[in-house]
Amino acid sequence: MPDEVVNAMARQPTDLADTRLQSLIAACESGMKALLMTERADVFFYAANGHGGWEAVIANLVGPDAVVLVPGTGHFSDNWAEQVEAFGGQALRTPYREGFPIDPAAVEAALRDDIAHRIGAVFVVHTDTASGTTCDLAALRRAIDAAAHPALFVVDVVASLGASPFAMDELGVNVAIGASQKGLMVHPGLAFVAADARAMEVARRNPAHRFYWDWERRKSDHSYRKFCGTPPLSHLAGLEAALGLIAAEGLDRVHARHARLASAVHAAVGCWAGAGALRLFTREARARSVSVTAIEVSPGIDPEALRSVARERFQVAIAGGLGPLGGRVFRIGHLGDLNEAMILGCLAGVEAAMQVQGIACTHGGVDAAIASLVASAA
Ligand SMILES: Cc1ncc(COP(=O)(O)O)c(C=O)c1O
Repeated sequence: MPDEVVNAMARQPTDLADTRLQSLIAACESGMKALLMTERADVFFYAANGHGGWEAVIANLVGPDAVVLVPGTGHFSDNWAEQVEAFGGQALRTPYREGFPIDPAAVEAALRDDIAHRIGAVFVVHTDTASGTTCDLAALRRAIDAAAHPALFVVDVVASLGASPFAMDELGVNVAIGASQKGLMVHPGLAFVAADARAMEVARRNPAHRFYWDWERRKSDHSYRKFCGTPPLSHLAGLEAALGLIAAEGLDRVHARHARLASAVHAAVGCWAGAGALRLFTREARARSVSVTAIEVSPGIDPEALRSVARERFQVAIAGGLGPLGGRVFRIGHLGDLNEAMILGCLAGVEAAMQVQGIACTHGGVDAAIASLVASAA
């Protein structure tokens, strides 16, 4: 979290009648629209995490007997599909192939098979944080169009927004859902949903009971109604500061920085992989996330022990495997308020921890990362 965000969140919250609150909310709404590259969608904020954002989408779009297609990306598509089912909806899944992004052909085939057009929406996780794999949204849009299917295109940008390019209107995305704690660089606790007119119309016709999440109820100029109660003032102040930082750096430069740092991580892992004990989990280079990299280890290597050594001895926090990838991968996050020196420090700490653990790795990962950074800055 940048100091500017932390400091903004530490400010005294205003009273709800203070006109500065109106300008704060307006700045967050217009900043989010600029970041999402949408002029068409309405933005709704919730005092919630990413699961709350998912729930907002489901509560508004998934009525009784609704069918949703959730293309398999692994852990996070599984979780979202389960949430749909918990609401009584039917979640159809396309198969997930480990190490590979969503197959647009499988999405097209599932939509073509749905001759009665029962599928109301396609729920896509842009970057699955568990696998570090990013799917091709333009190809998925083409797949929906090729099937001539009216399903809404709903995209989870929790792990990608502010790191990977995302142009909501150009991609024909009807709903985007995200949360504060990743590329937005704000403390966890603020979720958002952007919904276009088609999605709003589907929600309007959906008879399912809802209150807190209801887009129609929140479409108001009155801040108390807009937030279904007291707005999360500190989170909004943090978001305003973060959006200001992103705008000041320039969105293209923010994306380029993420791509550059991700390439450095991939270069380091590519070097370490020479000894055969670990490898990049995402097989296709173009599908490797610029936000997070999952590194698969050979059987017999304990990534949790590696994490402990990295944290306790080298002050580097790396993540473990989620769901079916538990015990099989460790992950390096490289998004948000991050620069070259920080990522080189992280890679050095991981390489040192691997040596302590006696994990076979070709030395020189940090040199490979430096070479990648030098080449990309040229
Ligand atoms: C892609 C993606 N979607 C949804 C979520 C759920 O967000 P939260 O943990 O804030 O509920 C996460 C969390 O990491 C995520 O990475």
